[in-house]
Amino acid sequence: MNKKTIRDIDIKSKKVFIRVDFNVPIKNGVIEDDTRIRGAMPTIEYAISQGARVILASHLGRPLKDKKKAEEKGMPYDVTRYSLRPVYEYLRRMPEFQDVFARGDEPVQLGDEAGTALGKAEIKNDKIFFAGDSVGDVVKMQVDKLKSGEVLLLENLRLYEGEEKNDEEFARALAELADVYVNDAFGAAHRAHASTAGITKFVDDAVAGLLMEKELNFLGKALHDPERPFVAILGGAKVSDKIPVIKSLIERKVDKLLIGGAMAYTFFKAKGFTVGKSLVENEMLETAAEIEQQAREAGVELILPTDHQVVDSFDPLNSRKTIPVEFTNTGLVGLDIGTETIAIFTDALRGAKTIIWNGPMGMFEEKPFDDGTIAIAQAVADATEAGATSIVGGGDSVAAVNQAGLAGKISHISTGGGATLEFLAGDELPGVAALDDK
Ligand code: 3PG
Repeated sequence: MNKKTIRDIDIKSKKVFIRVDFNVPIKNGVIEDDTRIRGAMPTIEYAISQGARVILASHLGRPLKDKKKAEEKGMPYDVTRYSLRPVYEYLRRMPEFQDVFARGDEPVQLGDEAGTALGKAEIKNDKIFFAGDSVGDVVKMQVDKLKSGEVLLLENLRLYEGEEKNDEEFARALAELADVYVNDAFGAAHRAHASTAGITKFVDDAVAGLLMEKELNFLGKALHDPERPFVAILGGAKVSDKIPVIKSLIERKVDKLLIGGAMAYTFFKAKGFTVGKSLVENEMLETAAEIEQQAREAGVELILPTDHQVVDSFDPLNSRKTIPVEFTNTGLVGLDIGTETIAIFTDALRGAKTIIWNGPMGMFEEKPFDDGTIAIAQAVADATEAGATSIVGGGDSVAAVNQAGLAGKISHISTGGGATLEFLAGDELPGVAALDDK
């Protein structure tokens, strides 16, 4: 990576603004997946260990866009849903945080559940604070009061319009809080927003965090200098979301491209198969045929499912069966890859040296249509054990790996959704471009 990182600059006693991606799923105040929070911990721990005064800033959801939509429909809008306070409550209970602070001069008082499940009881933690806002005089005062090694989490940046508009005034107001800027929000690096791009104009140092560095190193190596055989697995609902990635992977001559999930049906229909009531993007049929043609010309083996799990749309609960894809009669809906496809995909992954996987193989959120996705998670983990470097990105694929208890067996779990796809498509990410070169 040709960008400076937090390790390249002096941050001792400095006000260090770390842009993180704490855009995590929260239900009734409970964090359902903390992958992104854990991903940012090495940078936060490093900053604390160097005696920095740490300011954490993130977005959560799309509050103002959702507000507009709600208003258009005349629905009530509850802004508190978008507060980062639940993330703050989570952070201050994290055993990792307790450990970091306990390394300081003043040991923090740990509750008796320290190191066990989070959130059971209050852990006293007086070194991490929550600001009720993200800019302004009160926040500045809170920042000024921070001592070395202390942390202040700002409120959701997207509660300000200036954030997504990359407004100069808002970017300047954020920069006024800090001496140094660190971007560790790989997941938001494809956005040119005030906190990911604009702010860098108003600070002396703008560097990458350790998660950002790790993401760029893993993904960069896979894209530009992969060890071969290089196998990519793409899934999910829509071909249209993945066209730039598919084209980029074909241009880079990935050895095998496995396509599962609902997007496979657009390819089947383009070949002239009947697909019943399965999800298809009719406007993408030509594109799907072009992609197959490009893959053939480039010598890329494009592998589609040969069988799938279907249900009858008139009796979805009692009609599940596995059939060859070409026997998909009217009325049937394909919801997951079949056992033969699992075997073919698993075989294609055997011996791979680089694997990229993005997108589920079926309707993962509905059991038993998660079977295919979980089986692929296992196949990727096995290939990794046998020597491949594997990268898994995208919410459902990462959830599948976590659900199967295989996260530790994957070389790199990417915290990016859209950012990972844009990076793999070969696009420059504005949040990376804005950082200081080495
Ligand atoms: C993500 O979840 O992909 C990132 O946090 C970016 O969020 P966004 O798509 O709302 O910009």
